[in-house]
Amino acid sequence: MSAEIREVLVVGAGLMGSGIAQVAAQGGFQVTLVDTGEEVLARGLARIEDSLTRLVRSGRLGEVAAADARARIGTTTDLVEAARGADLVIEAIVEDLDAKQALFAKLGDSCRPDVVLATNTSQFQISRIAEPCERPERVIGVHFSNPPPLMTLVEVILGDHTSEAALEVTREFLAACDREIVLCRKDVPGFISNRLSTALCMEAARLVDEGIATPEDVDKVARLMYGHKMGPIATLDLAGLDTALRVSTALSEHYGGDRFTPPPILAQLVEQSRYGNKSGAGFYENGSSQLAV
Ligand code: NAI
Repeated sequence: MSAEIREVLVVGAGLMGSGIAQVAAQGGFQVTLVDTGEEVLARGLARIEDSLTRLVRSGRLGEVAAADARARIGTTTDLVEAARGADLVIEAIVEDLDAKQALFAKLGDSCRPDVVLATNTSQFQISRIAEPCERPERVIGVHFSNPPPLMTLVEVILGDHTSEAALEVTREFLAACDREIVLCRKDVPGFISNRLSTALCMEAARLVDEGIATPEDVDKVARLMYGHKMGPIATLDLAGLDTALRVSTALSEHYGGDRFTPPPILAQLVEQSRYGNKSGAGFYENGSSQLAV
């Protein structure tokens, strides 16, 4: 495996891809951001510009460092050409297994054989994404949180075939980007973070569903007794109840038992179009006003 990383290719210039490109550029790497069209790439660059400006304004980044990071990011729609010069690839395209598998097949053909191919998937097993890829031992999960420039913890996930060498390269890259990592040693749905948060959030929703406590009181316990920054019900409203229902149903079907099973109230709220903060109401009448508590 190549320990010498200079050129990082980030595929997908959306919310996560643009943030990951920024993190890598701030870490000193040359970055090429790839997407399907010039307009999306321009939007990705604008998001990076905006984030760098806010970091400078808040005193968390110097002006020169921000300008240097910006200068290290190039864009293109030509994946195959960009893949040829890459030392490390991070995929952050749409969460669709067929799309990711098609991309990894192409990356497997276009990149040098020693290049680590990382996926930012939030739910698919790494080994499934790696299936059509030449040399699946170089495929690894790197699960950044949103927004990547501010969230310093990255969950690294080993696929069934991921090599120690691929892990080492990933560790070195993330350390250079000043990221903390946690290692998910088995290729399981939900990894560490979503298994933990789904189990907690579904139990919290069950307490409300069964009439045992109000959303406010459930969140108060998490904040004042356990020191969480935000309670699990407010977290559900922030993440989106439709997304939470989809994720918890998928985990529940995979693992069986009750721990991830969404209680009826979740589907009921979604049926009423109460998706949480994004639709103005969820468990709370006005989700965003609760975030300040
Ligand atoms: P997004 O929808 O903002 O961006 C996806 C981008 O990928 C779009 O710009 C799209 O044009 C591009 N794209 C789609 N197919 C492509 C292809 N074949 N080649 C090149 N570009 C392609 O999505 P977002 O939120 O950035 O998510 C990206 C990945 O990160 C997904 O796998 C998601 O599950 C994961 N993720 C998302 C988090 C979030 O909070 N949004 C958190 C952690 C992981």
